[in-house]
Amino acid sequence: MGLFTLLSILSLSSSVLAAPRKNQDKHLTATAIVNTPDNTSSAFECWQLTTPFDAATLDGTVAGAMNLGLADVTKVNYVVRPPHEDYGLHNAPNAQIVVYLSGSINITVPTVPEQQSVILGGGHGLFFAMDTEGEGHYATYPSDEQTIGLMIPLKDGKAPEHVVLDDKPCGTTSSIV
Ligand SMILES: *[C@@H]1O[C@H](CO)[C@@H](O)[C@H](O)[C@H]1NC(C)=O
Ligand SMILES: *[C@@H]1O[C@H](CO)[C@@H](O)[C@H](O)[C@H]1NC(C)=O
Repeated sequence: MGLFTLLSILSLSSSVLAAPRKNQDKHLTATAIVNTPDNTSSAFECWQLTTPFDAATLDGTVAGAMNLGLADVTKVNYVVRPPHEDYGLHNAPNAQIVVYLSGSINITVPTVPEQQSVILGGGHGLFFAMDTEGEGHYATYPSDEQTIGLMIPLKDGKAPEHVVLDDKPCGTTSSIV
């Protein structure tokens, strides 16, 4: 075996092996709006998904690319909210993933009015709306621009496996930890 071949094999195997190792411990965290245990109202939780990111399986990705098989879903609704809309108190129509791409949403729950979750549109604008029972949550769209988002109902209303890090929102964005 020539030196060149050996070096090629070493560098190939280290890049193949290194990528999954590097991303193995990375998890998505995101705010969830859930039913209270008695199903009469809504509450916030901060979720960390159990399934970690893995090396991307997409063609042509470079080191550091990551992929997460997030959930099984049924369809995608593309929603446009006008600036400064006040949606009032409502339930999640389906247990769903919501991803805001622009603008922002300010969510509050009647049970803990001092908690508010302002989620900024963009690459980290993902949260889970799971409160299909009870009185629901308030949503306003404080941005001067349209708040555009994807509403993605979960298959059978089933949340991806997760641990609850806290009984309050995670912050203004979803994040990778
Ligand atoms: C709340 O709703 C869930 C799902 O519909 C149900 O499994 C659970 O038993 C309900 N809890 C109470 C206290 O009614
Ligand atoms: C979010 O909504 C709550 C309740 O209406 C309000 O008190 C708070 O000021 C709002 N925050 C932002 C950033 O709009």
